[in-house]
Amino acid sequence: MRPLRLGVLGSGTGSNYRAIAESIRDGRLRAEIVLVLADVEEAGILRLARELGHPCRFVAPGRFRTRLEPDAERQMAVLLTDAGADLLVLAGFMRMVKEPLLSAFPRRIINIHPSLLPAFPGLCAWKQALDAGATETGCTVHYVDAGMDTGEILAQARVPVLPDDSPESLHARIQAEEHRIYPGVLARFAAEPGRRNGAG
Ligand code: GRF
Repeated sequence: MRPLRLGVLGSGTGSNYRAIAESIRDGRLRAEIVLVLADVEEAGILRLARELGHPCRFVAPGRFRTRLEPDAERQMAVLLTDAGADLLVLAGFMRMVKEPLLSAFPRRIINIHPSLLPAFPGLCAWKQALDAGATETGCTVHYVDAGMDTGEILAQARVPVLPDDSPESLHARIQAEEHRIYPGVLARFAAEPGRRNGAG
């Protein structure tokens, strides 16, 4: 069976993308990264992709703040389809995915979110957990659907909230778990051919 072909979408530093690339390099994940797209021209994830030698590209997102303009989303869908991506991996992508990406990759887009969904969907979920006085939070890998962090859950990891946590210290502890579970979920997709066509 050929390696799983991943398309990666990000807006930020790309630490999850780095963890995935390292799993591939170390032979823990049988996959290849066929394209990295970012909606932020100076995003760290694009610098990292150039450093790692993965094809990458900035796509101008258009005038909306929380989603892509349809033309930009269409452009992404074409680029990712042409690159032969089996699965789209959202790695700190800060916009909601809509059409035509959802239809172009049915049940083949996944995301990582820094809380134990369905608790604390949306932005800065680690800060939401602190503000709510939660004693435990975590991270979730889930399928992407048209809602905000509502898709079917694929994996979760729990993280304690410590009494002296700052938003930064809590987010760092959550991210350590993200870097562990995201490649783990991808390894499941790589091992199960049915999941590549959205059947899993
Ligand atoms: C992560 O905390 C992830 O859960 C959220 O965005 C952040 C991305 O971080 N969706 P990075 O760009 O992978 O470092």
